[in-house]
Amino acid sequence: AFANHYHFIVKEASFERLCKSKEILTVNGKFPGPTLYAHKGSTLIVDVYNKGKYNLTIHWHGVKQPRNPWSDGPEYITQCPIQPGSKFRQKIVLSDEEGTIWWHAHSAWARATVHGAIVVYPKPGTSYSFPKPHAEIPIILGEWWKDSVVEVLKEFTASGGQPRNSDAFMINGQPGDFYPCSKHGTFKLEIKSGKTYLLRILNAAMNEILFFAIAKHKLTVVGTDGSYTKPLTRDYIAISPGQTLDCLFKANQEPNFYYMAARAYTNGTNVQFDNTTTTAIVKYEGNYLISSPLSLPYLPSYGNTPAAVDFSGNLRSLASKHHPISVPLKVKTRLVSTVSINLLPCPINGTNVTTCQGPNGTRLSASMNNISFLTPTYNILEAYYYHIKGVFGTEFPSFPPYVFNYTADILPLELELPEFGTQVKVLEYNTTVELVLQGTNLVTGLDHPMHLHGYNFYVVGWGLGNFNEKQDPQNYNLVDPPRRNTVAIPRNGWIAIRFRADNPGVWIMHCHIERHLTWGMQTVFIVKNGHRPEQRIFSPPQDMPPC
Ligand code: C2O
Ligand code: CU
Repeated sequence: AFANHYHFIVKEASFERLCKSKEILTVNGKFPGPTLYAHKGSTLIVDVYNKGKYNLTIHWHGVKQPRNPWSDGPEYITQCPIQPGSKFRQKIVLSDEEGTIWWHAHSAWARATVHGAIVVYPKPGTSYSFPKPHAEIPIILGEWWKDSVVEVLKEFTASGGQPRNSDAFMINGQPGDFYPCSKHGTFKLEIKSGKTYLLRILNAAMNEILFFAIAKHKLTVVGTDGSYTKPLTRDYIAISPGQTLDCLFKANQEPNFYYMAARAYTNGTNVQFDNTTTTAIVKYEGNYLISSPLSLPYLPSYGNTPAAVDFSGNLRSLASKHHPISVPLKVKTRLVSTVSINLLPCPINGTNVTTCQGPNGTRLSASMNNISFLTPTYNILEAYYYHIKGVFGTEFPSFPPYVFNYTADILPLELELPEFGTQVKVLEYNTTVELVLQGTNLVTGLDHPMHLHGYNFYVVGWGLGNFNEKQDPQNYNLVDPPRRNTVAIPRNGWIAIRFRADNPGVWIMHCHIERHLTWGMQTVFIVKNGHRPEQRIFSPPQDMPPC
């Protein structure tokens, strides 16, 4: 049995990386934060104490929280923030998640350092879909700025342009030996010849999809986003911010030291990283001569969309007797939403953009369905529950989807100028929904890892170019599509996802690339209560943080 009650003391602590120490926000003084362990179907209580200087919320990423949006966490969506000196008790209701998911701050950019893994074991008496590995190791991929993340965000929102690139990527909180002053701390994993290991990999980086591999060893994916997959064996994996991948690897090479490495995958034409490769060491036990120098595993180069989709597009749900899936075969509502980067005139009254560093003196923004989301100052969940007017509108999508060539070089001008708004989509309980997310070539085509709270969804189709409403649905995979909570829309392509709206509540959907989220690439689904008592959201806890 595991502890089911945790205390998260959120506070500043000093950490040194890249030859420089700084104060970062941590949970219990740890970075990365503590791993939570639980069995499928259990409920955890986490008391979150904000002992930091800023408002804060915590989100349990990949936890559906049936009927319990109160503990979901996104700031001003399901709660007002926990103010410095205050406490909030969150209830993490695990239902059908099994595998690796995670938790992170969901306020401003605090999640850069406030994050950790959640390991969900099978129910007692049941087992993994694969033989029990010799050991299981969380691998947390992250990003580090030498300066305070609060400053980086301030500078970013004031500039209207791109944010400052991070100074390092990390594996388990360590940049690895390619970076200055980092050799000593490099994460090392000791393995025994002949044994099999399970890596519980999660991408907690702020702004980058990452490729990951271990030199000379193959990785076999067996799960993603808290669901089992059919085994998929590859030399490298692609993982976007928000996603998790459970990967087995076998210690079947000559005893030696080997690099494991992750590298940023950047599609932006004007984004260049120097230090984009973070390393850790896999080290066989025993006495042997280390052959040096160690070589890095092969990782695809920047902007390699084909390499990323070739990996993700081949993931399949396990869909076995013991781990069945339930893909909606017919859908009641098909929604199509564009997902775009936009340019806006600058400065704009009422925003804190001051220096207009976007292309040609504009400011960059982002939108879904051409609406750039404005975060309200009162949370949507309580506004909905208590019928408080004026917090949100219900106009998403606000117009029928435009029919145009989304990925052409020249696009309708009105699409460059999104509206601002706090618009949600209201769904009746139990509606079967298909959501097609169409990437566009506005400003720049990028991959967008879209994450939905409150649900896992099935990725039934994807493609490059424009979604074709007549043809593409004929090629959907309704048999064993991967079940995920975060899926990357390929650059200039589309993704079709399906889910049954059987979890009443208020659930945000957003791009998990933090700069896009900050620019407004988000929307909200309100799923109404059903008629029966067990189809309604629970009453709010007594200690909801005040607004
Ligand atoms: Cu992992 Cu809304 O987030
Ligand atoms: Cu994005």
